[in-house]
Amino acid sequence: MEWGMANRMAQLIQSDGHALFLPVDHGYFQGPTRKLEEPRKTIEPLLPYADAIFITRGVLRSSVDPDDAKPIILRVSGGTSVVGKDLADEGLTTSMEEAIRLNASAVGISIFVGSDYERESLLNLAKLVDEGEKYGIPVMAVTAVGKELEKREARYLALACRIAAELGARVVKTYYCEEDFDKVVRGCPVPVVMAGGPKVDTELEVFEFVYDGMQKGAIGVNLGRNVWQTDFPVAMIKAIRAIIHQNATPKEAQDLCDSEKAKEHKNS
Ligand code: 5RP
Repeated sequence: MEWGMANRMAQLIQSDGHALFLPVDHGYFQGPTRKLEEPRKTIEPLLPYADAIFITRGVLRSSVDPDDAKPIILRVSGGTSVVGKDLADEGLTTSMEEAIRLNASAVGISIFVGSDYERESLLNLAKLVDEGEKYGIPVMAVTAVGKELEKREARYLALACRIAAELGARVVKTYYCEEDFDKVVRGCPVPVVMAGGPKVDTELEVFEFVYDGMQKGAIGVNLGRNVWQTDFPVAMIKAIRAIIHQNATPKEAQDLCDSEKAKEHKNS
């Protein structure tokens, strides 16, 4: 691996081999997503605990200070919306030159395996990888399911992750699944990070799936709504960080989260 690529990968994946990415890109197709209506307010308190943020150029420029940032994974696919015809019909929205200008550590793109736009999204990934490799910029592929959340099972996820890796993604972001997640990770020869999906009911559920996913080979998370849509996002991200970088158990993470919540309560 060339020096620039290796250096950018090291900015994303920490020396323990693990990573906590904070995605705040949801507005690119969902508009002002709940609790991300004012991105700066959501992002600023969480930034110290993230290893990198996944973000569009618009929110990066408007809502993150360049002198107080974390490594950037720039979301460079889009062009669809939740009220449009098909979320899978994405194109590339940002050039590699712009990614370099913004000092991005990586770029991220969604692929929609099994959709009407499978071919386009996969060829977009391949093209982005060609461009990224030219400049030493890693590509993170996002195995997106659009509105078809039921696709989040091992056979589908394994297929999508493997295809992303085969086309040259350096990191793959996918969903956790309860059954056979180890097979998803094993079949993907590049590091896998887990997304959270829509907010689940309890904190413990999040800690349990993050912990289980890590035991099964994921290197970390790219977890958004299950952090910043909770009532205590800072407590939440600190607890998730403990699982990822200190191998905390779900119970230890819950205890940490509770004590951080108590502190926040006292200070409010
Ligand atoms: C949105 C994304 C998000 O980055 C990804 O889904 C992770 O966020 P969440 O944990 O909220 O699902 O790609 O398009």
